[in-house]
Amino acid sequence: MGRPPVSEPKDAVASMRLTRQERAEMKEIAKSLGFRSFGDYVRFLHNKSQDEVKLARKSKAPAKEGKLTLFHTTKYGKIYNGDSLDYLFYKAKPKSVNLIVTSPPFGLTRQKSYGNEDADQYCKWFRPFAEGFRRVLKEDGSLVIDIGGAWKPGIPTRSLYHYELLIMLCKEFGFHLCQEHYWWNPAKLPTPAEWVNVRRVRVKDAVNCIWWLSLTPFPKANNRRVLSPYSSAMHNLLENGYKPNLRPSGHDISDKFQKNNGGAVPPNLLAIANTESQSQYLDYCRDKGIKPHPARFPQLLPEYFIRLLTDSGDLVLDPFAGSCVTGMVAERMKRKWVAVEMNSEYLRGALSRFSQPTITSKSSNKKLKPTVYEISSPCPIPVDETEIKLAGDGGAFRRRK
Ligand SMILES: C[S@@+](CC[C@H](N)C(=O)[O-])C[C@H]1O[C@@H](n2cnc3c(N)ncnc32)[C@H](O)[C@@H]1O
Repeated sequence: MGRPPVSEPKDAVASMRLTRQERAEMKEIAKSLGFRSFGDYVRFLHNKSQDEVKLARKSKAPAKEGKLTLFHTTKYGKIYNGDSLDYLFYKAKPKSVNLIVTSPPFGLTRQKSYGNEDADQYCKWFRPFAEGFRRVLKEDGSLVIDIGGAWKPGIPTRSLYHYELLIMLCKEFGFHLCQEHYWWNPAKLPTPAEWVNVRRVRVKDAVNCIWWLSLTPFPKANNRRVLSPYSSAMHNLLENGYKPNLRPSGHDISDKFQKNNGGAVPPNLLAIANTESQSQYLDYCRDKGIKPHPARFPQLLPEYFIRLLTDSGDLVLDPFAGSCVTGMVAERMKRKWVAVEMNSEYLRGALSRFSQPTITSKSSNKKLKPTVYEISSPCPIPVDETEIKLAGDGGAFRRRK
């Protein structure tokens, strides 16, 4: 049977060199997906990527410039009051920012959101910011997003919104995921109490995800800037030597491990307790009758990424600045910085962070004492399973005492 007539005759041929292996694999995939020809499959891939690009491009700048007010300036930084989209699209120069480190408002958990809607809504809300971030970031810059997970209302399952955000940023906006980090807050309370303490069907949710993204696979970075102190076992090894050996995993541990590099490369788990109860910030808010920001992140969080990813004099942006923790740390570390926050009440409180002469990076480093948290390996306590029964209903109903 001949080809059916087409409205737009295909009169051009594009040639592309593929290895035999690539061609064989693509043909195999095309066949398994039910495409009639290899060409149909290539056309499908083209249309799919066009759709993704179109979706991303829909999230344009705000139609008209809003009001962005310069709220405060310091030696290195500027605080703006207003919508950060105005900064991203109208105030900032393209490709001017070395690092965006921020904690956006977390998931929109609404009463009706049992399905995917919460994640969809969040991604829709975030798209224009993603477009703005692409606009202002330098080619070798990084975007770091601290984002907490969320429970769905009324049921013991989790929203996917922060994972969908990550996938959207990579698939629609072309960001690369350099590395996910997890911020473990050892002081986190066990919530939601209903699932964790009452029905006992979930465990404590104690980590936030931190997505470290970039425009190229090779943003500037150096892990020597964020080394951790060696453990006592490692000190011992450095002093007394190590007999090169094969590990159970099969890795050959060479004698290079005996070299003192000034500290250990840290894992992507950041242990930081968020327990600020006494601080200049809180005293100031109390004195002035200002409500402190309810979702502040700890200073060590932006400090870690500013150290890892920027040099002195670079520009750091926090577009969801809250109480300006990022700005305060950047000021200390002699980075230029911009903070944008839409709620002026939060900025009134943030002023306390800049009212004292700033502590220099050196002196603040001197004050830093590493805190070591203990975390047990799982299951150290024996359990009598005849006594402790599983909730057969999965916790759907409260048990009678
Ligand atoms: C999770 S908080 C950030 C807290 C901050 N990291 C701190 O430690 O204080 C998110 C902030 O983003 C602000 N915000 C939300 N949408 C914004 C927008 N379009 N422009 C500027 N700020 C915005 C909210 O008012 C809120 O203070």
